[in-house]
Amino acid sequence: MKILVTGGAGFIGSCFVRLAIQNPAHEIVNVDALTYAGNLENLTAVADHPKYRFVKADLCDLAGLRRIFDEARPEAVVHFAAESHVDRSIFAPQPVFETNLRGSFNLLESMRAQRVRRFVHVSTDEVYGSLEPPLEADEDFPLRPSSPYSAAKAGSDLLALGYFTTYKLPVIVTRASNNYGPYQFPEKLIPLMISNALEDKPLPVYGDGLQVRDWLYVEDHCRALLAILDKGRDGQIYNIGGGRSLPNKTVVDRILAITGKPSSLIEHVTDRPGHDRRYALSSAKLSKETGWTPQMDFERGLAATVEWYRANQKWVRRVKSGEYQSYYARNYDHRARVG
Ligand code: NAD
Ligand code: TYD
Repeated sequence: MKILVTGGAGFIGSCFVRLAIQNPAHEIVNVDALTYAGNLENLTAVADHPKYRFVKADLCDLAGLRRIFDEARPEAVVHFAAESHVDRSIFAPQPVFETNLRGSFNLLESMRAQRVRRFVHVSTDEVYGSLEPPLEADEDFPLRPSSPYSAAKAGSDLLALGYFTTYKLPVIVTRASNNYGPYQFPEKLIPLMISNALEDKPLPVYGDGLQVRDWLYVEDHCRALLAILDKGRDGQIYNIGGGRSLPNKTVVDRILAITGKPSSLIEHVTDRPGHDRRYALSSAKLSKETGWTPQMDFERGLAATVEWYRANQKWVRRVKSGEYQSYYARNYDHRARVG
């Protein structure tokens, strides 16, 4: 199957490309604008593969996107490209609107005239908002997004489902929980804490650190997406959870234990505005329909991730240089230490 992937140079997209290309039946066209989060180094393993091709393009350019579709004629599209970080979406919501909403709209418009057999819109459990225990969101749970990021993702989910209802575009929406693993940009909780711990820098924990997230190993997520490409049903939503809910503080403590660093590195900083307390979701529908279950145990996955960051500190330094560095200085360095 010829699969056009958007955002394939990012964290999850590059993992998907590396996995999908192992199936000789697949051919991949990767469309990515290479923002601060996109890095072709993540794809060194597939760069020379005869069935892989990279096209640098911005989803906000509808005419350019249409040309790519006319030329590539993909049978399936898996849409990862997004501004994916909640904190950035709070400091700078405009690019979130542009890529996550306008970019998704342009993609849907580019597909409308074409006979794609499948469109997988990769979304997030954050669209369900914060849930009181013991609630778990299933796919019919109401959408209550809190941040510009999750609100834009919820909007693009609904737009994609609208294209299924109105134009019979073969849309599937997936909603995954928090991913972790190699190649994740060191601005999200796990890679930031690992890379800071390895450099003996403070670990900034927001608020009381008791916010709960469900952790999903990135390869498990990508295996779920491959199962959905194969066996999912058009017009459906599938939750993808790691089945491992933990407070942030526990995750940070484990990172300190694995890296052998002292807890004095933890710095309690002011909380994120609108911070969701707890995400929780059920992936029973996905397991029932495709047989998928997460394979990676959290302790093993976290240890493997720490090892990857330890062995790839040059990668971390390179991705953190340039634009990211000045962004970080502008927006994070002012955060007050509260404990
Ligand atoms: P990422 O930030 O690592 O990568 C995003 C990629 O999209 C980058 O390669 C970037 O260059 C590209 N991109 C951004 N704007 C673009 C544009 N206008 N045109 C073309 N390419 C553009 O993101 P990620 O963490 O890999 O997330 C991928 C997808 O998965 C996103 O849609 C995100 O909402 C979703 N998701 C992420 C998580 C998570 O924990 N990271 C969890 C659930 C869902
Ligand atoms: P993050 O990795 O940004 O993912 P999301 O906000 O999409 O869940 O954050 C995960 C959790 O970790 C969230 O509760 C916010 C918290 N967090 C910190 O405490 N400190 C940090 O420096 C970051 C980036 C996140």
